[in-house]
Amino acid sequence: MQTGKFPRIKLTDLPTPLEEMPRLTEVIGGPRLLVKRDDLTGAGLGGNKVRKLEFLLADARKKGATAVITTGGPQTNHGRITIGTSAKLGMKSSLVVMGAEPPTISGNLLVDYLMGADVHFVPPVQDESMSGYDRWAKDLNNVENKVEAVAENLRKKGEIPYIIKLGGTEPLGSLGYVNAAVELLNQLNERQIKADYLVCGIGTGGTMSGLFLGMKLLNSNIKVIGISVTAKDYMLAPMVLFESSEVAKLLGVKAEIKEEEVTIYDQYLGQAYGHPTQDGAEAILLTARNEGLILDPVYTGKVMAGIIDLSRKGQFTREDTVVFVHTGGVPGLFADEQVKALVKNSLRNKN
Ligand SMILES: Cc1ncc(COP(=O)(O)O)c(C=O)c1O
Repeated sequence: MQTGKFPRIKLTDLPTPLEEMPRLTEVIGGPRLLVKRDDLTGAGLGGNKVRKLEFLLADARKKGATAVITTGGPQTNHGRITIGTSAKLGMKSSLVVMGAEPPTISGNLLVDYLMGADVHFVPPVQDESMSGYDRWAKDLNNVENKVEAVAENLRKKGEIPYIIKLGGTEPLGSLGYVNAAVELLNQLNERQIKADYLVCGIGTGGTMSGLFLGMKLLNSNIKVIGISVTAKDYMLAPMVLFESSEVAKLLGVKAEIKEEEVTIYDQYLGQAYGHPTQDGAEAILLTARNEGLILDPVYTGKVMAGIIDLSRKGQFTREDTVVFVHTGGVPGLFADEQVKALVKNSLRNKN
């Protein structure tokens, strides 16, 4: 694999653990389940973005940057991890939040402030005379303008800003997940485990694209499945296809990728990104109570709800081996009212 030719800063100890989940397997009567612990990647409480930032922040350093700017929702994990890894490298960080300032500081946002981030909020457009699409486009435009204003302000102070896209999804960042595919295959081979499926959440698509391309370049038969937490499958599949091709181009390798090879399930998303689902909250409880493994309501809880449902429907059989990528996001749990309500409810039912 050609990722070695790109500058990379070590931000965490790899490989991340690969653990069995025998009790969850038993409870759901499903496949052999393993979890790749990419939630345990250190800086700023860790998560999948650390692998991307090892490449992105190395690029920032190479370009002489002294400050990093990125964007995300009020509970962005990507923002938190960018702030954490920047702090570790002695770089300043700014976060431009797509959304109004929440009344309380909780979850990821609390951690952002703890790590000294400069946070700016861009409230959504409220003009009811505009169409939903126009409002969304205006919101994006407002965020872009704010990022540029923050960058300009930093330049005036003598800093050199480096802007990282939403979710850190750009080909350089996705190299981190091409490497993760290599790392996982090594772990499986060492333990002589034959895995059938690799399941991850899909937000901006960089994680799945890197894993998908990595498995392809390594001629692995493991099928990569993305569980959407953001949009419909027909919107995400072309994105993953495009991103994987761009990463292949960056690596200078030929990879024939067809859209029908990209498998994404969108039925576990619920109402929208960031809206917790009942199935997701129940998956969080089931995983916590049987494996002591903590998931989050926005990403990994919905992914686990998908794994449980696909197992119950027989899509994953008892003979299959499924690796779930725990991409982190746990601080979001502490800002989620639905999970709190579910826990309260289950306590009430016990008494
Ligand atoms: C916890 C968590 N899991 C999964 C993802 C999805 O990763 P990607 O944006 O690369 O699709 C994110 C993205 O923010 C995340 O924070």
